[in-house]
Amino acid sequence: MINTIDALNWRYATKQFDPTRTLTPEQEHVVLETFRFSPSSYGLEPSKCVVIKNPEIRKRLREEAGGQPQFTDSSLLMVLCSLRTMDEKYVQTYIERIAQVRQIPLESLDGFKKMMLGFIGRLSPEQLKQWMQHQTYLALGMVLATCAMNEIDACPMEGFDSKKFNEVLELHKYGVESTVLCAIGFRMPDDPASKSKKVRPSEEELVIHVD
Ligand SMILES: Cc1cc2nc3c(=O)[nH]c(=O)nc-3n(C[C@H](O)[C@H](O)[C@H](O)COP(=O)(O)O)c2cc1C
Repeated sequence: MINTIDALNWRYATKQFDPTRTLTPEQEHVVLETFRFSPSSYGLEPSKCVVIKNPEIRKRLREEAGGQPQFTDSSLLMVLCSLRTMDEKYVQTYIERIAQVRQIPLESLDGFKKMMLGFIGRLSPEQLKQWMQHQTYLALGMVLATCAMNEIDACPMEGFDSKKFNEVLELHKYGVESTVLCAIGFRMPDDPASKSKKVRPSEEELVIHVD
């Protein structure tokens, strides 16, 4: 495994992917498992991802996203999605899974269930949507970090029309909406963006120490 800081310096939002290079099945597995293992508030996991390899669909999506070449040239295009809504049935299914996996009685989870339902119930539909999207962004961060640590290139992307993507991918069928994208693959050695120095505020500017 490479040094963390070196990995963070090595990664960048890749603009030009090498269309001839694809992830190995193991690399793809690591990326998708990272998405699955991403933590979420209460563990409710309100995110799903759509992985698109089909060149025709990617071409269509590229047209809907200002022609960004990452759509067609990366090895994987991940559309990170959030649930359209979350109801009591969803929470109950989660509770049953905990009881089954941890081999504990359902009743012992009554308090936890009540707490989650109380939290969700206090949110407006818009706030609930936003909260679920926050969890999806967290998964994006995890995927970016995993890619960096495994010398896999990635580009996070918000520059797309979410409504259009929902339509093209018929995401309503899965009860989700597109939130953010991640193109994953391998950089072209001469991608000019790979030569750009990182621009970040200094640690002193970013970190507030309260001693
Ligand atoms: C949520 C998010 C959305 C982004 N959307 C795009 C995008 O649509 N297209 C693109 O080329 N880069 C996109 N970027 C890349 C950023 O411009 C880039 O991460 C930032 O400038 C820092 O540079 P670095 O990632 O190369 O270190 C996005 C980054 C994030 C985190």
